[in-house]
Amino acid sequence: MTLVQTETGFDLYKEKLCIGRCTLACGGARTDIAALWIAPDWRRRGYGSYLLRQVLHRCGGYRRDDASLFTAPLPAGPGEAAFWAKFGFAPEGGRLARRRRPDLSAVRFAQDFLAARLAQPRLLVDATCGNGGDTAFLCRLAGAEGRVLAFDIQPAALEATRARLAREGVPEGRCRLILDSHANLLCYAAPGSADAVMFNFGWLPGADHAVHSEAGASLRALDAALEALRPGCILSAVLYSGAVIGDGEKRAALAWMEALPLTKYTVLVCRFANWADSAPLPCFVIKK
Ligand SMILES: C[S@@+](CC[C@H](N)C(=O)[O-])C[C@H]1O[C@@H](n2cnc3c(N)ncnc32)[C@H](O)[C@@H]1O
Repeated sequence: MTLVQTETGFDLYKEKLCIGRCTLACGGARTDIAALWIAPDWRRRGYGSYLLRQVLHRCGGYRRDDASLFTAPLPAGPGEAAFWAKFGFAPEGGRLARRRRPDLSAVRFAQDFLAARLAQPRLLVDATCGNGGDTAFLCRLAGAEGRVLAFDIQPAALEATRARLAREGVPEGRCRLILDSHANLLCYAAPGSADAVMFNFGWLPGADHAVHSEAGASLRALDAALEALRPGCILSAVLYSGAVIGDGEKRAALAWMEALPLTKYTVLVCRFANWADSAPLPCFVIKK
């Protein structure tokens, strides 16, 4: 089976025969399905489900981290209603609607906080680029005018980040990938130049968990990050603890934050109150 994107949506082919069609209008997070049709001889064999699932995939309906809204015409009868309900569509304001809202995670919370507070940033730093999720976020936030520095000590992390930025269409030149410890941040960013420095400590997901951030380098990097920030700008850090990583780094980072002078910094430690004590802990330092 082949799904072909057309000017008005998607056609479903079985060999050379077009057996299904979905017409739609897609704008950002919203997709309005005008019609979903399967040729009469091919109905009741799962092709409608296949076509709709593919459309949801292609238009971002299964992306875990993004909100999405799909609408479709009201169903003609109970059979059709059951079909749409299987994919999460329910009547809403004269059409069917399927809404997805991403779960709030520590990483998402840190990103939302930065996005809400930074307008037209010029220099953003990802101090732990890992698989590139935060770097991609910072690149979007930086826009055409801004620049991003992304650090990691593992070549595999830089490769994963490079691939992620290419997949997301981030223009080359917006982000500089740096194979170095974040403790050396000030070798790459001048004091008072950064709008945000983002830390997401721990290990590289999918790699050897024995390689993870350590309290010593992390504290040096946190100090460097404060110096690199412009006044009014933000350091964000997601802290971890657990069986492999222990809790030394988390305790040291928290003690470091709590000791920052009130006259110079606003410090937030944002605990998810009904999560386990070992859950990721988003923290922010705003330089006054
Ligand atoms: C939890 S991952 C980061 C996830 C990443 N921000 C993302 O969105 O995919 C932590 C990363 O920190 C890196 N790291 C550990 N110590 C470091 C150091 N001293 N300097 C820079 N990166 C370090 C690890 O190699 C790992 O890739």
